[in-house]
Amino acid sequence: MRILSIVGARPQFVKLAPIAAEMTAAGHDHIIVHTGQHYDANMSDVFFADLRIPAPDVHLGVGSGSHGVQTGTMLAALDGVIAEHRPDWVLVYGDTNSTVAGALAAVKLHVPLAHLEAGLRSFNRRMPEEHNRVLTDHAADLCLAPTEVAMTHLAHEGLADRSVLVGDVMTDVCLRVARATAGLRPPLPAGVDAEGAYLVSTIHRAENTDDPRRLDAIISGLAGLPLPVVIMAHPRLVARVGEFGLTLDTGSLHSTTPMSYPDMIASIAGAAGVVTDSGGLQKEAFLVRTPCTTVRTETEWTETVDLGWNVLATDLSALPALVTRSRPAETAAAPYGDGHAATRVVEVLLGRPA
Ligand code: UD1
Repeated sequence: MRILSIVGARPQFVKLAPIAAEMTAAGHDHIIVHTGQHYDANMSDVFFADLRIPAPDVHLGVGSGSHGVQTGTMLAALDGVIAEHRPDWVLVYGDTNSTVAGALAAVKLHVPLAHLEAGLRSFNRRMPEEHNRVLTDHAADLCLAPTEVAMTHLAHEGLADRSVLVGDVMTDVCLRVARATAGLRPPLPAGVDAEGAYLVSTIHRAENTDDPRRLDAIISGLAGLPLPVVIMAHPRLVARVGEFGLTLDTGSLHSTTPMSYPDMIASIAGAAGVVTDSGGLQKEAFLVRTPCTTVRTETEWTETVDLGWNVLATDLSALPALVTRSRPAETAAAPYGDGHAATRVVEVLLGRPA
């Protein structure tokens, strides 16, 4: 059995880690293709090193660009790669431009396509990720869903017969790394005491960063919070802050570069709260039981909200009240699975020829 994984952006490296480990353990042929969507060392290489992912077999080096140019460049380059390796399955992950490029390349070559993290929906058609995930699910021969909610969305779209609930592979990694880093002091910027109360923030989505007034309002909101806020600044955020003449290190805000995965998990585990627009971080905050406030109008990870561990900050003026709200009731609920999703993914791929 030969599986060809296509990844390119930071959260996909996290999802790839347990799949690559399972493939190696099961003795199968696993080709890793890195599109090059993320290329800074702290957005890519550190994840391969820290999560012990084998180096990519193929690196397309596409880099940044408009959605059309970036996706089209990947698509053109993937044709030859898939034709050369002739995998039994192409496996794509999540909802980035690398995902939809990989999906199109596979189906055009009639190679069976599996989509990991299928069925998530924000129902917000202004998000590029929403189009990427809907198109990929409908192209796929096999939709590997992380949650019951995702299975319901797939069924509503007529995809039930090709969907399987496997659990969330990011949970596999998060639980393992949280155990390994328990009690470690995270490397927080100067001026923030890792033993004291602090918040962790990430803001990177186009809808929050690309409009100067919206970004200014978010930064002012974070800067005015009553606790120190460590903001791990994604390159898109740094670029927009520069373009718009804003500043990140103001008021309560302390900026730092994107962190490695273990440092990030240690940081959120020790934090009083998380303020983010990242999907993965909402879930990771829940898994280490740190309350999360999400700077978006909707979330794909609705279980975190239903269980009381995540609140949507649709109105920025509510941020101070939201980040100081009392902790929700403890829960033993495990909507994201038991930490063994990757084992099921590989079993399903082996047992289910398209
Ligand atoms: C992408 C995904 C998003 C995911 C996020 C994780 C799409 C449409 N979006 O968003 O779903 O949540 O990755 O981080 O695929 N840049 C660098 N160095 C890098 C990577 C990016 O400087 O290594 C800068 C470039 O200016 C680039 C910008 O960040 O134009 C945006 O990068 P891009 O990969 O297009 O989208 P993300 O915002 O990272």
